[in-house]
Amino acid sequence: MLSGEHRTQGDVTAPLLAVAAGEKPSRTPVWFMRQAGRSLPEYRKLREGVPMLEACFNPEMVCEVTLQPVRRHDVDAAILFSDIVVPLVAAGIGVDIVPGTGPVVAEPVRTAAQVDALPADTGDRFEPITQAIRLIRDELGRTPLIGFAGAPFTLASYLIEGGPSRNHERTKALMHSDKQTWHALLTKLAGITREFIEVQIAAGVQAVQLFDSWAGALSERDYRELVLPHSASVLGALADAGVPRIHFGVGTSELLPAMREAGADVVGVDWRLPLDEAARRLSANGAPNPVLQGNLDPAVLMADFDVVDAEVRRIHAEGKAAGGHIFNLGHGVLPDTNPDVLTRVVELVHSLEP
Ligand code: CP3
Repeated sequence: MLSGEHRTQGDVTAPLLAVAAGEKPSRTPVWFMRQAGRSLPEYRKLREGVPMLEACFNPEMVCEVTLQPVRRHDVDAAILFSDIVVPLVAAGIGVDIVPGTGPVVAEPVRTAAQVDALPADTGDRFEPITQAIRLIRDELGRTPLIGFAGAPFTLASYLIEGGPSRNHERTKALMHSDKQTWHALLTKLAGITREFIEVQIAAGVQAVQLFDSWAGALSERDYRELVLPHSASVLGALADAGVPRIHFGVGTSELLPAMREAGADVVGVDWRLPLDEAARRLSANGAPNPVLQGNLDPAVLMADFDVVDAEVRRIHAEGKAAGGHIFNLGHGVLPDTNPDVLTRVVELVHSLEP
């Protein structure tokens, strides 16, 4: 569907897209989950007095915030400034983002009747996202733009719990007690997620990341039965879209092969598992050596830079065991991170032999 002009500018494939396609890059690509956001003073200034969700539906603001970390750090990709709850808002579900807390749902969804009654029609409410992506692509030049969405399980957890949750207990109770309602909910969420990503691809994003941030709370057995089919219905629908699909969750060391099976071209790894071990687990049973993304512990960025330096070099070396490596953190940038440290990490990664 997407032609070569989306992958290349001139005759050089952007490093991130080269690696995702299994090719050798000119340098190791590096970007950071949550690179746009509160670690940047220019972000905090722009967002002053503007609620998060209002910002997400303002094309000029989305464009500016998306570009800020690219200008500052020279990262190898921009990620669309948005949030995993944006498609829920577009569908008309009552959810807000509360500073310091995260998504909060007005009426948690816990019964079959509530699942039935969930709106799923997004109408033309993704139009500002389309406009934002066009503005961003015009400004980005050859740096690729990554689109994203939350995976059905992670979205379901917010809807059922009503907000962030440590144990996901109501979510697990529902998924085990009433499988029919569970699958009905995840089917609906997969539809909304698919539409959100398809809108982004049509508008020009050149890679997509599916965030199943909280999937690591599940056993592999439950993940395979109750979650994987719905993530696969999102990722499978994108298989022919011509953009690489990155699949990421936190604490997913035991789930990596299943998450790849859901339909990932790149598997995101958190800091708990060394990349060489992740590559070994993913290529067991004769599967091709995976392309990996990760996995510096975001908290390590708070340590002295000689510690950061050693960690970056270790991870870069371990990444050599994979079929390709996109350098990233193992989860998002923490708000108190010194942005100058991020810039130095980018310089260091770029100085290492790809
Ligand atoms: O730079 C980027 O990575 C793009 C922007 C982005 C945001 N949210 C912006 C944001 C991305 C990719 C997300 C995804 C997201 N949102 C996830 C998946 C990624 C992950 O971290 O696992 C999840 C679980 C959410 C839900 C969410 N939204 C949380 C937990 C929070 C933080 C709440 C807080 O205040 O601590 C949000 C709000 C949010 N999303 C902020 C940003 C920049 C902070 C809000 C603000 O600046 O006022």
